[in-house]
Amino acid sequence: MPLLVRTSTELDRDRLVARYRANRARSAEIFRFLEAEAYAERPIPLRHPFVFYEGHIPAFSFIKLIREALGGPSIDPQLENLFRRGIDPADSAEAARHARESWPSRQRVLEFATACDAAVIDALAHADITDAAASPLLERGQAAYAILEHEEMHHETLLYILHRLEHERKVAPPGVDVTERSPAALGRASVPAGRATLGARRDAIAFGWDNEFDEFTVDVPAFEVDVNNATNGDWLAFMRDGGPRPDFWLERDGALYLNGLFGEVPLPLTWPAYVTQKQAADYARWRGGRLMSEAEYHRAAFGTPAGQERAFPWGDAEPDPHKHGNFGFRRYDPEPVGTSPAGASAWGVHDLVGNGWEWTSTPFAPFDGFAPMASYPEYSADFFDGAHYVMKGASPVTATGLIRRTFRNWYRAEYPYVYAACRVAYD
Ligand code: AVJ
Ligand code: FE
Repeated sequence: MPLLVRTSTELDRDRLVARYRANRARSAEIFRFLEAEAYAERPIPLRHPFVFYEGHIPAFSFIKLIREALGGPSIDPQLENLFRRGIDPADSAEAARHARESWPSRQRVLEFATACDAAVIDALAHADITDAAASPLLERGQAAYAILEHEEMHHETLLYILHRLEHERKVAPPGVDVTERSPAALGRASVPAGRATLGARRDAIAFGWDNEFDEFTVDVPAFEVDVNNATNGDWLAFMRDGGPRPDFWLERDGALYLNGLFGEVPLPLTWPAYVTQKQAADYARWRGGRLMSEAEYHRAAFGTPAGQERAFPWGDAEPDPHKHGNFGFRRYDPEPVGTSPAGASAWGVHDLVGNGWEWTSTPFAPFDGFAPMASYPEYSADFFDGAHYVMKGASPVTATGLIRRTFRNWYRAEYPYVYAACRVAYD
């Protein structure tokens, strides 16, 4: 008897359409935070101006799902080409080569986006988006998931770019919600020697990016790790001993302030310091320790004394920002370290998911069995260059839909713009 091969998987179309619409609404909300005149501004010189992102997000969804996966016709080849892909130059000289004299008008971008959205929503609702025989991009609905997660990642990109726009040019919401609180715990946790599972089997999760496959295990020697991220207060001591000032801080008349997304506030000492990978590694060395490797992060976050591993630090319950941590846009700013104790790992380590990504010491590289994904072959492969490092976890503005054990993020070691925190580990 021939093996029964499932060529098509049932997807919950209503959920996909609802998620796409919710993502478009979030993007629109973020664009309402900037004044109209700032549309062509480029607050981070290593990234394109805002206008690019308003076109890029729907263009990417349209190109991947409609044109490439389903073989549909173009809407506007010129705009599709312009908005196809973002940039990640090493320095401002390289960035200058991507600079453009002019961008299309906002009206033209929005009309194009509306047409992309209509086509994408229609396909999510009615097309055969899991027909792997028709296209490898449709295998298990890959293109549909890829466009949804792509937009969710860009919500965060957009916000950290908006962060660097002058606050007077932002429309709402005003101010920074400053809270100071003491952490639920202090000190270090001991993580005994044990096995960490990284990556996933291809059939084990509904969707993962190419860099999440395949699954493998690592024997991790015992180590200790701080239960909390390094706070701004901790960082101050480092700075007074010659350490660098984080890019999110500013000094005025001898006083230190935090540059929040929507305003400046006197430096909140109990919040995690957001720093570069290099600054984090230097801080850890100054403290007599080091950063965790990616495998150690998995041990600290998902390991348990009994030996089995969990889906999330807190267990197997679906991530809930009101319970497990500061992620999913519950707020735009960090909160004091260690104030979501229900999200702590089995070893009592806090904020491993949420309140800022966790820098690791691991250069971003493929796992054994890596294959570039059909729907986006350059997604990861272009960044396996030894210059980018793995970040795990989530920030306040990481979508809840991106939170899973295998998700890997990456940035250059000295990229100062992301919401990434520092935690010290010890042999
Ligand atoms: C995985 C967040 C590093 O923003 O550069 C978006 C995600 N790739 N569009 C990035 C991405 C293409 C990527 N990061
Ligand atoms: Fe993109």
